[in-house]
Amino acid sequence: MSDQFSKKADAWSARFNEPVSDLVKRYTASVFFDKRLAHVDIQGSLAHAEMLAAQNIITAQDYADIQRGMAQILNEIDSDKFTWSLDLEDVHLNIEKRLTELVGDAGKRLHTGRSRNDQVATDIRLYLRSAIDDIVGLLKALRLALLHVAEPHADTIIPGFTHLQVAQPVTFGHHLLAYVEMFGRDTERMADCRKRVNRLPLGAAALAGTSFPIDRLRVAATLGFDDVCHNSLDAVSDRDFAIEFCAASALLMTHVSRLSEELVIWMSPRLGFIDIADRFCTGSSIMPQKKNPDVPELARGKTGRVNGHLIALLTLMKAQPLAYNKDNQEDKEPLFDTVDTVIDTLRIFADMAAGITVKADAMRAAALQGYATATDLADYLVKKGLPFRDAHEAVAHAVRSCEQRGCDLADLSLAELRAFSALIESDVHAALTLEGSVAARSHVGGTAPAQVRAAIERLKQQLQ
Ligand code: ARG
Repeated sequence: MSDQFSKKADAWSARFNEPVSDLVKRYTASVFFDKRLAHVDIQGSLAHAEMLAAQNIITAQDYADIQRGMAQILNEIDSDKFTWSLDLEDVHLNIEKRLTELVGDAGKRLHTGRSRNDQVATDIRLYLRSAIDDIVGLLKALRLALLHVAEPHADTIIPGFTHLQVAQPVTFGHHLLAYVEMFGRDTERMADCRKRVNRLPLGAAALAGTSFPIDRLRVAATLGFDDVCHNSLDAVSDRDFAIEFCAASALLMTHVSRLSEELVIWMSPRLGFIDIADRFCTGSSIMPQKKNPDVPELARGKTGRVNGHLIALLTLMKAQPLAYNKDNQEDKEPLFDTVDTVIDTLRIFADMAAGITVKADAMRAAALQGYATATDLADYLVKKGLPFRDAHEAVAHAVRSCEQRGCDLADLSLAELRAFSALIESDVHAALTLEGSVAARSHVGGTAPAQVRAAIERLKQQLQ
């Protein structure tokens, strides 16, 4: 049974002459944030123990004891009865200590052929794999929600902007589909990142592997990993998979942030293009008339913290010599916060998108201002044989004249238009309407209602 040394408090205390101060203990401990890895830590430990038993490194009885102890620990954690101790530094040592309390020597044998270095790397990968699966599911829900808003607005006209100046009319459905595309690429990035997350570090032990006859492929299969990490030093030390995830998240949040910016602008009473359901907005404590788009503003703001986490992890990694260094304990909070922020944001956005009220009249009225069909007039002249540069100039004169008169291009009579080019004929007004302008852009990727409807169909098939 236990020998005299095991009574020391820390797993390594036999080596030391004095205890650490309370401040150092707090500084080096991670249990208060890494305890959220408890479930995956136990999952990893059980797979390791199963393999140890299969390889006759521990007995079947030891494995059964470990299973029994872990089942109870899971119970205690889930019912909030588990006592987490700062003295035991992290989630791994807390669980191992409790296991030993519950099942004795079998608990002490669990760590055979393993180190916390390969253990924690495994835990993070298991945790992140499931987070990615959640995010991919939420991205799909958000894309579907946007598709549903886009569908009845394949013909709704909104001014398309460049430089935030009215440029050309587009359809609102087309505008929303731009975000469906962005979130589609975000989904691909997440799925691609998952491939590199889904490899097993266990077996690397502290850094050099282990002298026990372990079966890494067996553990990988038990835990659903596609492969093992092929170099023990790399397995315990790199966090590139987490950095990659943060980079994909930063891009995802950048897309959310752009959409947020548009929602805020569209909801401004100056434009009044949309309304956002009250449950996503707040009022002002002083100005009774206010309804503020808090959720999109916060999402835009939270993009900053996700970008920050990416930089934090890159900086954490950049000067680390092989192999594991304690720096890596700092990977968790940025990673957890990135996951939490992305998941909450996507959940809220799918719901909020579905609740948007579209004010098509305001969109149309805005598209009628700003000479949005000037390019159409130039294209019209080109089709009548004028070189594009000359057409551009003729229309620029027409726009200037409209500006002076305070009217739109479509308000000019045929005779007035002909003053800018004799090539203009009675069919010109069809080209100058908003509907004519969008309908003319009927190629793959164009804003024509027919193309928007086709794109929605294609995306629906894809998302089934
Ligand atoms: N809590 C540690 C971490 O998060 C576990 C690994 C500790 N390994 C060590 N050699 N100190 O990275």
